[in-house]
Amino acid sequence: MAKVELKINGVQHSYDVEDRTLLVNLIRDHAQLTGTHVGCDTSQCGACTVHMNGVAVKSCTVLAGQADGAEITTIEGMAKNGKLHPVQQAFTECHALQCGFCTPGMIMAVSGFLKDNPKPTDEEIYHGLEGNICRCTGYINIVKAVKQAAKTMSK
Ligand code: FES
Ligand code: FES
Repeated sequence: MAKVELKINGVQHSYDVEDRTLLVNLIRDHAQLTGTHVGCDTSQCGACTVHMNGVAVKSCTVLAGQADGAEITTIEGMAKNGKLHPVQQAFTECHALQCGFCTPGMIMAVSGFLKDNPKPTDEEIYHGLEGNICRCTGYINIVKAVKQAAKTMSK
């Protein structure tokens, strides 16, 4: 067993977990934050993306023990004071989702990516979305949403 102490969305948590527990399972099963999804068992889909110490990571590729002392942000922590994060707002306005299963991971990946590259080219957006799979939308509106969010965030 491992003791893991971490902050999730600004709230301090402490859990005893098995050594093999993945961060995504800690978030979903222990912290009960089920907006972070599991869409594969091959680290390919990106549905599990969260921010760990400000960096977007696939939480199915991180052991819970590796997140000891970390600050985690999940999709539930993105809206502030009742106001959607600009990436959430852009996904809503650009109709960048259908079933919504991939959406939390997309939003976490895109918001992380825009921090590093606030004015991405189309090519850079395609590259930035490579780790996240959507089975519904065809990506066109997702790319539109990324562009809109980039504009809003750079104002
Ligand atoms: Fe993590 Fe698919 S569940 S990449
Ligand atoms: Fe359905 Fe992306 S909106 S998987």
